[in-house]
Amino acid sequence: MKVVHLSDIHVWRYTWNVGQLVGVRAWWMLALLRGRAHQFQLERVDEVVARVRSLNPDHVLITGDLTTSALPDEFADAKRHLAPLMADRERITILPGNHDRATRRSSTTNRFESAFGLYMPRLTFPWLRRLDDETAILGLDATRFHYTPRGRIPTAQLDQARALLTDAPGRPRRLIVASHYPIAAPPPYERELAAKRLENADELAAWLARVGPHIFCCGHVHAAWAFRPRELPDQLCLNAGAPLYRDPAALQPPGFLEIDLDADRVKVVHQAWDGTEWKPIVMVDERVFGKA
Ligand SMILES: [Fe+2]
Ligand SMILES: [Fe+2]
Repeated sequence: MKVVHLSDIHVWRYTWNVGQLVGVRAWWMLALLRGRAHQFQLERVDEVVARVRSLNPDHVLITGDLTTSALPDEFADAKRHLAPLMADRERITILPGNHDRATRRSSTTNRFESAFGLYMPRLTFPWLRRLDDETAILGLDATRFHYTPRGRIPTAQLDQARALLTDAPGRPRRLIVASHYPIAAPPPYERELAAKRLENADELAAWLARVGPHIFCCGHVHAAWAFRPRELPDQLCLNAGAPLYRDPAALQPPGFLEIDLDADRVKVVHQAWDGTEWKPIVMVDERVFGKA
């Protein structure tokens, strides 16, 4: 089973229609869009989609921030660019990121759900989506319209997630937890995550520490990584990074993750774009499952 994990595509569109910016401070949004235009190379998006298709994945998982300011034009553009991956809705799962709820109106009118709700098993979180007899994605959503980029998973959602796994007819042997927000970050990114963290990460971590071996697919910090958080030794935390990002610190090339699941083994390849060509880099090749 091959899963391609994408995140933080951040389609952007300049807009001067202040009426669309109700619920945010227009100057803030315009500054954001101006910054994004420099940081995110939108002209590369179709090539990224073509690269994903060339890998022939069984499933594509996108962990949020498809847009920048959650405006209708951005959702329409994101859908258009991603259309080649969306032909079979059984083979793609899409979650929201905080940017997909950037305005009050986008949040209250469920703009993300209108655009991409077909690509989740249901519109409310949590949910469990079976990919095959052994593999399932547990979808969590900590995004909300808020004046900070910080997220929070409602306690009721966590309670339901616990029940979903407990009640599942046979816990999926290969569990993939999908969330826009990571619980923890590797040292070079700890400060960045602290500023835009999941406020109740401790609560989520305390539960996940008890669910056994799992993969945790996330985004939000625009850097690809594969690591095991100190407090979660049974978790392989995977961040797909942002495929169009121009990293000013040049710590990481942009790209996405190709995750091969073979029985209990997991091989993770960072499909990295070095500015000229794709460079596949093996991040993980180890036994992850089977200890539960
Ligand atoms: Fe993002
Ligand atoms: Fe984000």
